[in-house]
Amino acid sequence: NPMLLTLNNGTVIPQIGLGVFQTPDGETTEQAVLAALETGYRHIDTAMIYGNEASVGAAIRESGIAREDIFVTTKLWNNDIRAGRAKEAYQESLDRLGLDYVDLYLVHWPAAGWQQAWKDMEDLYQQGKVKAIGVSNFQRHHLEELAQFATVTPAADQIESSPQFDNRALADYCAAHGIVVEAWSPLGGTGGSLLADPRLAAIGERYGKSPAQVVIRWHVQHGVVVLPKSVHAERIAQNFDVFDFALSDEDMHAIDAMNTGKRNGADPDNFNF
Ligand code: A2P
Repeated sequence: NPMLLTLNNGTVIPQIGLGVFQTPDGETTEQAVLAALETGYRHIDTAMIYGNEASVGAAIRESGIAREDIFVTTKLWNNDIRAGRAKEAYQESLDRLGLDYVDLYLVHWPAAGWQQAWKDMEDLYQQGKVKAIGVSNFQRHHLEELAQFATVTPAADQIESSPQFDNRALADYCAAHGIVVEAWSPLGGTGGSLLADPRLAAIGERYGKSPAQVVIRWHVQHGVVVLPKSVHAERIAQNFDVFDFALSDEDMHAIDAMNTGKRNGADPDNFNF
């Protein structure tokens, strides 16, 4: 039974979404999104820079599922932030997706000019063109700066989070301010070694679950939105099959203790793209 969270503007968001970063455009993305929707996912997380918005939209149409029953996120890329093109870029994303709105539009990174991008996104939101707006890769200091001038509180902050790098202080700050945390690279990312950690296998054995399922369940119990990526239908299904068990407090703490404090991905205070 998939869990739903409610964003600070009342919009409902399914807690598990399919992430499609590094999922090639075309058949691969279409098959992955279709497999997810057939399995029961109702939340797809893409971005302009992933280059696969068109395939995401095609799969949504092909699924035959009503648009309003699927939560779709996309993101404003850094070049468009720097160029002051938030509104144009939003329309371009809609055109590629073949949709007339998205459920959540995010500032992808705090690139130079993000403050103006936020004001433009507030306009899109006030005009009813997008259901909710939020940010991604914002640190606490970015959120504090935003709070100084924003008229809309971000609905979400999508940040790197996994048992290796749990980002807990930032997640706690977000929770205290009504900002839903979304975890990217929730399984430790492509080429990561997290899922091979024997501690996860040992915990999983007690519940009859895989390391990936243990990690996804750990995110769910921390109350964050989790966006696992896979191109394999079998894994896509497995990653959604986490609602028939609960990790004990002891196991939650054991996974919490795996935090190394080291990021896999880029540092939002020092990125060059
Ligand atoms: P693949 O797409 O080949 O299945 P993250 O979501 O943290 O970015 O991690 C995704 C990585 O984990 C991808 O390399 C993905 O590979 C792999 N992956 C996704 N689901 C599972 C799973 N259930 N078991 C093992 N590996 C998985």
